[in-house]
Formats: sequence, C-alpha cells, structure tokens
Amino acid sequence: MKAWRASLLYFPEPAQAVLETDGLLVVGPDAGGRQVVQAVGSYSALAPRFPGLEVTHLPGRIIAPGFVDMHIHYPQLDVIGSPAEGLLPWLENYTFPHEKRFTDPAYSAEAATFFIAELLRHGVTTALAFATSHPESVDALLGEAQRRSLRLIAGKVLMDQNAPDGVRDATEQSLIDTEALITRWHGVDRLGYAITPRFVPSCSEAQLRGAGELAARYTDVWIQSHVAENRDEVAWVRELYPQARSYLSVYEQFGLLRPRAVYAHCIHIDDEDRALMRGTGTAAAVSPTSNLFLGSGFFDYAAADRTGFLYGLASDVGGGTSFSPFHTMLAAYYVGREGQTKTGVSLKPQQLWWQHTAGAARALGLEGVAGNLLPGCEADFVVLNPQATPLLARKTAQAGSLDELLFALIVLGDDRVIERTVISQAASTTWPDHEEVSAK
Ligand code: GUN
Ligand code: ZN
Repeated sequence: MKAWRASLLYFPEPAQAVLETDGLLVVGPDAGGRQVVQAVGSYSALAPRFPGLEVTHLPGRIIAPGFVDMHIHYPQLDVIGSPAEGLLPWLENYTFPHEKRFTDPAYSAEAATFFIAELLRHGVTTALAFATSHPESVDALLGEAQRRSLRLIAGKVLMDQNAPDGVRDATEQSLIDTEALITRWHGVDRLGYAITPRFVPSCSEAQLRGAGELAARYTDVWIQSHVAENRDEVAWVRELYPQARSYLSVYEQFGLLRPRAVYAHCIHIDDEDRALMRGTGTAAAVSPTSNLFLGSGFFDYAAADRTGFLYGLASDVGGGTSFSPFHTMLAAYYVGREGQTKTGVSLKPQQLWWQHTAGAARALGLEGVAGNLLPGCEADFVVLNPQATPLLARKTAQAGSLDELLFALIVLGDDRVIERTVISQAASTTWPDHEEVSAK
C-alpha cells in the first residue's frame, strides 16, 4: 500500500465536493489486484490506522480525481483550430481529408502515442474516444493505452456513405471489423470498446441496423455517436428520414439508445428527445469548446436538469479547441450563462468539476470505478499546484471558500496546474519517478 498526504478533493455526493485540507489518500490492491482507494479522509484521523505506511507528503498541493473526457477524436489532434462555416464544411474540408492519413499504421501509432501523452499532461485519466474508420487505428490507440495502463474506451468509426474514398467503409466488412475489435479489446485490462456510427448522415440504414444488432448482442460495450449538433445537419437528417419524429429517434429506431450509449452535443433537441434520453439511460457528452468554435449552439442545462438525463463534459478535440479540462469547464460555464436562446444559468464550480470527473464517470456507467477518490475507486489522480502561475497564486491565496478556489482554477488554470498525473495501475510504483507521471 502507498499513501499521499495533501489537500484532497473528492465527491461524496453528486455535484458536491469536499476539500480535506490536510488529507490522507491510501491506495492498495483490491481482491482482484487492481490498485484502488483504500481510505480517504483527514490525515490526523486516518494516519494512526496505517502505522508504518510510507507517506508521500505534498504540502501546498491538491490531489483530485483524474478527469474524465466523454468524447474526443484521437485522429483530430491536428484538426484543432481549423476554421469553417460550420460543422459540415469543417468535416468535408479538414476532418475527412485528415482522417485518411490513418490508413498508415505507423502514422496511427505516432498519433496514438502523442494523444495519450497529451491526455496525461492535461490530467485526463479516462476517455471515450473515436478512432477513424480504419480498424488498425483502434489497435494503435488501445495498444498504446494498454501499454500505459490507462482506462480508455474507443471504437472504429462506421461511415459507409456520404464520405470520400479513403475514409468510407464497406457496410458488411465494417460490422465484421467491429465485432472482431470487440472480441480483441473489450474488457482487456482497463480497455473498453464502443460501437461508433459516426452520425446518421454517414451511415446507411443497413449499417445502423447492424450496429444496433451488435449493441443488443454485446450489452456491456459502449455506443458513441453525434446527434443534433448543427442546424444544417439536423435538416439533412430530416431529408434522409422524413418519417422520423426527430434526429434522436432515428438512433432509437435502430436500437442505439441504451445505458452506455453516449451522444455528443444534444443541442437541437426537444423535451420529447430529452425524455427519450432519460427513459433509455442514454447520456449526452457536452462539448462546449467545440460548440463555440464551430458555432453549433448552446447545450440547454436547465432543460437537461428539468428532465434529468445523464450528461458530462467532453473536449471533442478537434472540433473542440483544447485538451484542457479547465478550458472545457470554463467554456461550459459560458455556454450555461448564455441566456438569449435558452434559460441562462450560472453553473457552480463544484458542478462543473463534477461533470468532468465523477459525473462523467456516472454517465459512462463507471460510477464508483473512475472519476472519484472514494474507497473502492481506481486510484487515478492528479496533483494540482494552485500556485502554478503568479496570477493563480495571487487569486487562490484570496479564496474564501471551496467554490472560490475551484473557480480560480477553472478560470485561470491550464496544463501548468497539472503537476503530476498518477495512473496507479501502472507497473511502476516508484514516486516521484513514476513512469506514468506526466513530465513537465
Ligand atoms: N459529426 C460527425 N462527425 C463529427 C466529428 O468528427 N466532429 C464533430 N464535432 N461532429 C461530427
Ligand atoms: Zn465529436
């Protein structure tokens, strides 16, 4: 067993954080050999229960759960910051041409290595990721995640129509490839597979039907896709499925709404769709930097909470502009505040932080596993330096409450705040020269 003494941030209740200012985090193996949190609480209360335990003392630092990114595209690293008149031209002019490069396994491997290093540098320890339509791109990403002992879920993109040569796949083969990848990767170490129809316009009816059949057969794999991000996209789906009640209902028709189904965006939806999300246990991946960058619209937090469906935060790199959970939480605050097209709300810092950690884990069906530091959770965590920049040091020194402290970090923070990222399942457990600790 190992222990860390520092300020500890964790979530005993949804959207409610505790900061134990002089805390102790004790990590050790569970019955299955996974490194999990054994105890968390105040140093003075806990230390006598663990005599002789080696304790790493980190004065002035905050240990917090590793962040959970509910929606990210690893092949879009280099697509970040590509300007376009909205989603559809952005896909056509930048994204599809770029994703063609992943036919080359060496290119995929280099991108996967860079991508996972970047996740860790930003404190992200769990993610649900799109690969490309090339099955080898999944092998590259999950192989690298396995090497670094990360909890990662990914899938081969299904896209057999309305896409150019080089990324368009063949219906039957795409489903055969998906099933083979499920068998190869799902449940291996901490890896998971997600059936990944790109979005309705890029999938034939036969492909969506096949995806739904696989989802019914493999009930604990994830499903990931996009829905109702952009008005032109919604109009296109209405042309393709004139009989459908809504865009979201097309996925329902093919059996693609269920627990562990995660849909990015969910902006241009109505209350009937929200009830469908709730009723089926489907989750939304709210991607505010992407929605602001592509001018897609604003996620309606008040309506979501009125209905009560699952949602959490996501970067959506490369429509999204940053890997940084701090940037995503701040953008979520801006999106919440927007009050011209929907009810404007002022999201609390503890809510924002929860949506990118324990709340996102809950939406993924990983409550009690990832995104928190309660006993039994896998011990992936970040060490935050609240004095990482002069302005942040000045601001956090004046914080009079936990919300003020968290807001200072959300508004002024970035990768400089993430001093270390610790993946406790990693083979090496030495500290501070831990292999899986992000280098600064
Ligand atoms: N809709 C279909 N594909 C994509 C994608 O790659 N990014 C975003 N943001 N939306 C999409
Ligand atoms: Zn996306």
